[in-house]
Amino acid sequence: MTAARPAPLRVVVAGKGGVGKTTITALVGRQLARAGRRVLLVDADEQMNLARTLGIPASEASAIVPLAHQDDYIEESVGARPGEQGALLRLNPDTTDAVARFGVDGPDGVRLLVMGGLRSAGGGCLCPENSLLRSAVAGVGRDQAEVVLMDTHAGVEHFGRALARGFDHAVVVTDTSTNAAAVAVQTARLARELGIPRIGLVVNRARDTTDRQRVARLVADEGGFAFESVTVLPWDETVLDADPSVDALVGSEGAFATATAALADSWRPTRMELAR
Ligand SMILES: Nc1ncnc2c1ncn2[C@@H]1O[C@H](COP(=O)(O)OP(=O)(O)OP(=O)(O)O)[C@@H](O)[C@H]1O
Ligand SMILES: [Mg+2]
Repeated sequence: MTAARPAPLRVVVAGKGGVGKTTITALVGRQLARAGRRVLLVDADEQMNLARTLGIPASEASAIVPLAHQDDYIEESVGARPGEQGALLRLNPDTTDAVARFGVDGPDGVRLLVMGGLRSAGGGCLCPENSLLRSAVAGVGRDQAEVVLMDTHAGVEHFGRALARGFDHAVVVTDTSTNAAAVAVQTARLARELGIPRIGLVVNRARDTTDRQRVARLVADEGGFAFESVTVLPWDETVLDADPSVDALVGSEGAFATATAALADSWRPTRMELAR
């Protein structure tokens, strides 16, 4: 049995569809990398659009083979190929080389690991690729990254798959709509059930100071949740202008980029986390 390697700070970004998860993940990842942190971004959304949002050119992004499709590697580490029925799976496969082998380099020195689609949405399916993806995220050591930032599928489904188990922070993103706030509360509760110790709320696309209170009211209407922090990110036209990537936002002093930089700063590992 090998000694446990020190783990990086792991942050999962979750929330309703379209609230800004991928934009925030990509921009914060690059801001942290520019500030000198070694950053691994994990794309756990089967839409797989983090690469482009990061600023990786479309031709390169579409050539990335996600981990869920690395059949030989899956067989090598888990003991069965995707689709193989009845094989005995290694439940704790050694995936410590997954980032080195399948991670791709992005702008500003970030590494990106694209997971690809999981089988049996929402189910606790014990299929080979699910087993591999879970351990690939859990097995990342501090020698590979200081911060792991995981973008997720919309809604609360990925929490069911327990991909985020063992994460240090959940960043629950909402906009100012009732539906997004409801999903945020459900997501936060699931994050707490998973044992994620720090759960913060991000209110994106805020137009004025009353939006913070509006969301606080919506969260209360859903039964409430004691978020560790509430961060407000403003509505900013330059985010839309920057589409399809955050390139133009990195290093800019626009309202959104300034606010995400402050958010990233708040994820500084605590002494206790550093001592692990
Ligand atoms: N603060 C903001 N101001 C203006 N536009 C924004 C802001 N944040 C995000 N957007 C825009 O909102 C859209 C949705 O953002 P994004 O794709 O990051 O959301 P998502 O939560 O990842 O969506 P999905 O659930 O589909 O993966 C994008 O066009 C993005 O540019
Ligand atoms: Mg997204």
